Amino acid sequence: MDKAKQIRLFDRQAAQYGRRKEGQTLRRWRRDLLNHANGEVLELAVGAGANFPYYPGGVKVTAADFSSEMLSKAREVAAGCRLDADFILTDIEGLEFPDRSFDTIVSTLSFCSYENPLRVMKKLRRWCKPEGSILLMEHGISSNAIVSTVQRMLDPLLFRAIGCHHTRNIPELVRQSGMVITRSESHMFKMVHLLWAKPGTS
Ligand SMILES: C[S@@+](CC[C@H](N)C(=O)[O-])C[C@H]1O[C@@H](n2cnc3c(N)ncnc32)[C@H](O)[C@@H]1O
Repeated sequence: MDKAKQIRLFDRQAAQYGRRKEGQTLRRWRRDLLNHANGEVLELAVGAGANFPYYPGGVKVTAADFSSEMLSKAREVAAGCRLDADFILTDIEGLEFPDRSFDTIVSTLSFCSYENPLRVMKKLRRWCKPEGSILLMEHGISSNAIVSTVQRMLDPLLFRAIGCHHTRNIPELVRQSGMVITRSESHMFKMVHLLWAKPGTS
Protein backbone atom coordinates (compact mmCIF):
# COMPACT_ATOMS: atom_id res chain seq x y z
CA MET A 1 0.00 0.00 0.00
CA ASP A 2 1.41 3.44 -0.81
CA LYS A 3 1.99 5.92 2.00
CA ALA A 4 -0.66 8.41 0.85
CA LYS A 5 -3.30 5.70 1.02
CA GLN A 6 -2.11 4.54 4.46
CA ILE A 7 -2.23 8.14 5.75
CA ARG A 8 -5.81 8.51 4.45
CA LEU A 9 -6.75 5.29 6.28
CA PHE A 10 -5.44 6.69 9.58
CA ASP A 11 -6.94 10.13 8.95
CA ARG A 12 -10.32 8.42 8.59
CA GLN A 13 -9.84 6.53 11.89
CA ALA A 14 -8.86 9.64 13.89
CA ALA A 15 -12.38 10.60 15.03
CA GLN A 16 -12.94 7.06 16.29
CA TYR A 17 -9.56 7.08 18.14
CA GLY A 18 -10.46 10.43 19.67
CA ARG A 19 -13.79 9.13 21.02
CA ARG A 20 -12.54 5.73 22.13
CA LYS A 21 -12.90 4.86 25.82
CA GLU A 22 -10.18 2.33 26.54
CA GLY A 23 -10.69 -0.60 28.91
CA GLN A 24 -9.10 -0.83 32.33
CA THR A 25 -6.38 -3.27 31.22
CA LEU A 26 -5.10 -1.10 28.39
CA ARG A 27 -5.16 1.95 30.66
CA ARG A 28 -3.14 0.04 33.28
CA TRP A 29 -0.59 -1.05 30.68
CA ARG A 30 -0.17 2.52 29.46
CA ARG A 31 0.22 3.79 33.04
CA ASP A 32 2.80 1.12 33.98
CA LEU A 33 4.84 1.95 30.90
CA LEU A 34 4.59 5.74 30.91
CA ASN A 35 5.41 5.91 34.63
CA HIS A 36 9.01 5.38 33.55
CA ALA A 37 9.17 8.35 31.16
CA ASN A 38 11.24 11.36 32.08
CA GLY A 39 13.00 14.40 30.62
CA GLU A 40 12.95 14.96 26.85
CA VAL A 41 10.52 12.40 25.45
CA LEU A 42 9.97 11.39 21.83
CA GLU A 43 6.64 9.67 21.23
CA LEU A 44 6.41 7.96 17.85
CA ALA A 45 3.10 7.59 16.00
CA VAL A 46 1.26 9.34 18.79
CA GLY A 47 -2.19 8.85 17.27
CA ALA A 48 -4.92 10.73 19.17
CA GLY A 49 -2.73 11.15 22.28
CA ALA A 50 -3.98 8.13 24.24
CA ASN A 51 -0.76 8.06 26.29
CA PHE A 52 -0.82 11.73 27.29
CA PRO A 53 -2.82 11.41 30.54
CA TYR A 54 -0.25 8.91 31.88
CA TYR A 55 2.96 10.96 31.58
CA PRO A 56 4.52 11.99 34.89
CA GLY A 57 4.87 15.72 35.52
CA GLY A 58 7.88 17.57 34.18
CA VAL A 59 8.33 15.73 30.86
CA LYS A 60 8.70 17.58 27.55
CA VAL A 61 7.14 15.53 24.75
CA THR A 62 7.92 15.66 21.03
CA ALA A 63 5.07 13.80 19.37
CA ALA A 64 5.23 12.61 15.76
CA ASP A 65 2.63 11.13 13.44
CA PHE A 66 2.00 11.22 9.69
CA SER A 67 -1.78 11.73 10.08
CA SER A 68 -2.76 15.38 10.46
CA GLU A 69 -6.20 14.31 11.74
CA MET A 70 -4.62 12.20 14.50
CA LEU A 71 -2.31 15.07 15.44
CA SER A 72 -5.19 17.50 15.75
CA LYS A 73 -6.91 15.13 18.23
CA ALA A 74 -3.62 14.71 20.09
CA ARG A 75 -3.20 18.50 20.37
CA GLU A 76 -6.60 18.75 22.07
CA VAL A 77 -5.72 15.99 24.56
CA ALA A 78 -2.34 17.61 25.34
CA ALA A 79 -4.06 20.93 26.04
CA GLY A 80 -6.63 19.17 28.25
CA CYS A 81 -3.97 17.56 30.42
CA ARG A 82 -1.61 20.56 30.27
CA LEU A 83 1.16 18.45 28.76
CA ASP A 84 4.19 20.31 27.44
CA ALA A 85 4.21 18.92 23.89
CA ASP A 86 5.40 19.79 20.39
CA PHE A 87 3.98 18.04 17.34
CA ILE A 88 5.66 16.98 14.12
CA LEU A 89 3.66 15.92 11.08
CA THR A 90 6.02 13.43 9.49
CA ASP A 91 6.56 9.92 8.20
CA ILE A 92 8.63 8.35 10.97
CA GLU A 93 10.39 6.12 8.44
CA GLY A 94 11.91 9.24 6.87
CA LEU A 95 12.47 11.13 10.13
CA GLU A 96 15.96 11.87 11.44
CA PHE A 97 17.26 13.28 14.75
CA PRO A 98 20.83 13.63 15.93
CA ASP A 99 22.03 10.59 17.87
CA ARG A 100 21.37 10.63 21.65
CA SER A 101 18.66 13.32 21.45
CA PHE A 102 16.10 11.94 23.93
CA ASP A 103 15.93 10.71 27.53
CA THR A 104 12.89 8.55 26.76
CA ILE A 105 11.44 7.15 23.54
CA VAL A 106 7.88 5.86 23.59
CA SER A 107 6.03 3.80 21.01
CA THR A 108 2.67 2.18 21.58
CA LEU A 109 0.89 0.19 18.87
CA SER A 110 2.94 1.63 16.02
CA PHE A 111 5.36 -1.07 14.86
CA CYS A 112 2.44 -2.82 13.13
CA SER A 113 2.33 -0.06 10.51
CA TYR A 114 5.90 0.59 9.36
CA GLU A 115 7.14 -0.82 6.08
CA ASN A 116 10.52 -1.56 7.66
CA PRO A 117 10.00 -1.92 11.43
CA LEU A 118 13.56 -3.08 12.13
CA ARG A 119 15.01 0.07 10.59
CA VAL A 120 12.76 2.20 12.83
CA MET A 121 13.76 0.20 15.90
CA LYS A 122 17.41 0.80 15.13
CA LYS A 123 16.71 4.54 14.83
CA LEU A 124 15.16 4.50 18.31
CA ARG A 125 18.37 3.07 19.70
CA ARG A 126 20.41 5.84 18.06
CA TRP A 127 18.10 8.66 19.13
CA CYS A 128 17.98 7.54 22.77
CA LYS A 129 20.66 8.73 25.20
CA PRO A 130 22.80 5.79 26.44
CA GLU A 131 21.34 6.05 29.96
CA GLY A 132 17.83 6.73 28.60
CA SER A 133 14.82 4.42 28.25
CA ILE A 134 12.85 2.98 25.36
CA LEU A 135 9.28 2.14 26.35
CA LEU A 136 7.24 -0.04 24.02
CA MET A 137 3.77 -1.54 23.98
CA GLU A 138 3.37 -3.37 20.70
CA HIS A 139 1.19 -6.10 19.27
CA GLY A 140 2.22 -8.85 16.89
CA ILE A 141 2.07 -12.53 16.06
CA SER A 142 1.01 -14.78 18.93
CA SER A 143 3.10 -17.75 20.06
CA ASN A 144 -0.13 -19.78 20.16
CA ALA A 145 -0.45 -21.89 16.98
CA ILE A 146 -4.22 -21.47 16.60
CA VAL A 147 -4.22 -17.72 17.27
CA SER A 148 -1.27 -17.11 14.93
CA THR A 149 -2.95 -19.08 12.13
CA VAL A 150 -6.02 -16.85 12.40
CA GLN A 151 -3.78 -13.76 12.53
CA ARG A 152 -1.97 -14.83 9.33
CA MET A 153 -5.27 -15.48 7.56
CA LEU A 154 -6.74 -12.10 8.52
CA ASP A 155 -3.57 -10.03 8.08
CA PRO A 156 -4.00 -9.02 4.39
CA LEU A 157 -7.60 -7.99 5.04
CA LEU A 158 -6.77 -6.04 8.21
CA PHE A 159 -3.84 -4.28 6.57
CA ARG A 160 -6.06 -3.09 3.73
CA ALA A 161 -8.83 -2.04 6.14
CA ILE A 162 -6.87 -0.32 8.94
CA GLY A 163 -3.27 -0.01 7.70
CA CYS A 164 -1.81 -2.25 10.38
CA HIS A 165 -0.19 -5.71 10.26
CA HIS A 166 -0.96 -8.38 12.88
CA THR A 167 1.95 -10.70 12.15
CA ARG A 168 5.02 -8.77 13.28
CA ASN A 169 7.37 -10.74 15.54
CA ILE A 170 7.97 -8.05 18.17
CA PRO A 171 10.39 -9.95 20.49
CA GLU A 172 12.48 -10.96 17.46
CA LEU A 173 12.56 -7.39 16.09
CA VAL A 174 13.68 -6.08 19.47
CA ARG A 175 16.37 -8.76 19.68
CA GLN A 176 17.66 -7.95 16.17
CA SER A 177 17.70 -4.22 16.90
CA GLY A 178 20.23 -4.70 19.72
CA MET A 179 18.14 -3.03 22.45
CA VAL A 180 18.65 -4.36 25.96
CA ILE A 181 15.39 -5.39 27.64
CA THR A 182 15.29 -4.58 31.35
CA ARG A 183 11.71 -5.72 31.95
CA SER A 184 9.08 -7.35 29.77
CA GLU A 185 5.50 -8.57 29.95
CA SER A 186 3.47 -10.45 27.36
CA HIS A 187 -0.30 -10.66 27.33
CA MET A 188 -3.24 -12.05 25.34
CA PHE A 189 -1.63 -15.26 24.05
CA LYS A 190 1.64 -13.29 23.76
CA MET A 191 0.14 -10.99 21.12
CA VAL A 192 0.80 -7.86 23.20
CA HIS A 193 4.24 -7.02 24.55
CA LEU A 194 5.19 -4.38 27.11
CA LEU A 195 8.91 -3.71 27.01
CA TRP A 196 11.13 -1.48 29.10
CA ALA A 197 14.51 -1.26 27.35
CA LYS A 198 17.85 0.50 27.18
CA PRO A 199 19.42 1.39 23.85
CA GLY A 200 22.43 -0.86 24.49
CA THR A 201 25.91 -0.33 23.09
CA SER A 202 26.40 -0.17 19.32
C1 LIG B 1 -2.70 2.03 15.87
S1 LIG B 1 -2.42 3.77 15.95
C2 LIG B 1 -1.67 3.93 17.55
C3 LIG B 1 -1.78 5.32 18.09
C4 LIG B 1 -1.20 5.53 19.50
N1 LIG B 1 0.24 5.31 19.53
C5 LIG B 1 -1.88 4.69 20.54
O1 LIG B 1 -1.21 4.00 21.32
O2 LIG B 1 -3.13 4.75 20.62
C6 LIG B 1 -1.05 3.91 14.84
C7 LIG B 1 -0.62 5.34 14.60
O3 LIG B 1 0.60 5.31 13.88
C8 LIG B 1 0.60 6.34 12.90
N2 LIG B 1 1.57 5.90 11.89
C9 LIG B 1 1.60 4.72 11.24
N3 LIG B 1 2.65 4.66 10.41
C10 LIG B 1 3.31 5.85 10.53
C11 LIG B 1 4.47 6.39 9.93
N4 LIG B 1 5.18 5.71 9.01
N5 LIG B 1 4.87 7.63 10.29
C12 LIG B 1 4.14 8.35 11.21
N6 LIG B 1 3.03 7.88 11.83
C13 LIG B 1 2.62 6.64 11.49
C14 LIG B 1 -0.85 6.39 12.45
O4 LIG B 1 -1.18 7.62 11.83
C15 LIG B 1 -1.59 6.18 13.78
O5 LIG B 1 -1.81 7.41 14.42
